[in-house]
Amino acid sequence: MDRGTTSEARAAMYSRNRLKLGLFGANCSSGRAVTMVPERWSGSWADCLRLAQMADDAGIEFMLPIGRWKGYGGDTDYQGATFETVTWACGLLAATRRLTVFGTVHAPLIPPLIAAKEFVTADHIGEGRFGLNIVCGWNEGEFEMFGATLRDHESRYDYAQEWLDVIRRAWSEEDDFDFAGRFIQLKGVRAKPKPYGGTRPVIMNAGASPTGQAFAIRNCDALFSNIANGISFEETTGHVKNVQALARRGGREIDVYTVGVVTCRKTAREAEDYWRHAIVDNADWRAVDNILAMKNVTPEALGAEEFHRFRNHQANGMGGLPLVGDPDRVAGQLAQLSAAGLTGIAVSFVNYLDELPFFCAEVLPRLARLGLRETI
Ligand SMILES: Cc1cc2nc3c(=O)[nH]c(=O)nc-3n(C[C@H](O)[C@H](O)[C@H](O)COP(=O)(O)O)c2cc1C
Repeated sequence: MDRGTTSEARAAMYSRNRLKLGLFGANCSSGRAVTMVPERWSGSWADCLRLAQMADDAGIEFMLPIGRWKGYGGDTDYQGATFETVTWACGLLAATRRLTVFGTVHAPLIPPLIAAKEFVTADHIGEGRFGLNIVCGWNEGEFEMFGATLRDHESRYDYAQEWLDVIRRAWSEEDDFDFAGRFIQLKGVRAKPKPYGGTRPVIMNAGASPTGQAFAIRNCDALFSNIANGISFEETTGHVKNVQALARRGGREIDVYTVGVVTCRKTAREAEDYWRHAIVDNADWRAVDNILAMKNVTPEALGAEEFHRFRNHQANGMGGLPLVGDPDRVAGQLAQLSAAGLTGIAVSFVNYLDELPFFCAEVLPRLARLGLRETI
């Protein structure tokens, strides 16, 4: 598909694959695995660059960074070292040919016009391959660091709506314009150039609440939903259908993606053993408990049993869907997600660079045989 030509081509990330694949969280030290194993992800620039080029060559569609400003402490200072995501995306876009690279941006922390110009810059570097992941924020400690206040939940999305409205106008309007919102007032706005190729970057959001989902349905090309472990096939299908029906009612189309954590080895036994070793026996439990406490998930609030369940889930990729097994099983699980209507999945590994080659060599051909991806 030609670069930058249509919004549909961008939303499809220039790929005809029925199941799109991305890598999630590589801009942060430890990535998404709250583990102490020494091979955990460095998050260094050299490793990110090698990973992006490996993913690009393998036909992986996208890389999705995490907007994180402050580590979670514990024995590893989990996600303590993080690259700012738009500048990270610029570097990766310059060094790749096909990959869509997202910036994950906290709307309340960056003035909308600076953000709009940054996104356009990244988009020109990548010739139409930049994507925007909007986050509204939830972590008070991070906001305090910026001298910013975390608004109440509903107002966060009201603010994000104005912020995005400004950006879309800056991307599209040829003439100067004023903006008079509840939160944002601007005069004589002029922004050139426009995004690459006369279209605009693909926009996603990961709202989970009804307000968050409604925001995505109104504004985004893609909604990222956490499909929790244990949720049935029917529930997942129902969720996707519901989101898409709501979008169509508003005259829009939306794709639904999810996040997963892959542990794939030659045999199921090897995969399960490594998963237990990295995610249970060597979890950074102090960091896990810090994260949960920030979200008010405590034994007192939830009861011991439910807390225990949450705790295990959090150590595993911050709550992503575990895809653990041999290549047949992992490909089968991915095929199930596709059958449930999901457009794609962003996955993480304990060490992306060490584990991606086996995943690409063994799982991608199986997905091709299942008709979900083309062979490269
Ligand atoms: C795939 C995915 C990616 C997310 N990325 C980030 C992120 O990078 N930074 C962040 O602060 N929150 C992130 N979140 C949290 C969401 O933006 C959102 O705050 C959370 O899902 C709560 O949803 P709600 O605002 O609708 O209640 C992510 C969530 C998901 C499922």
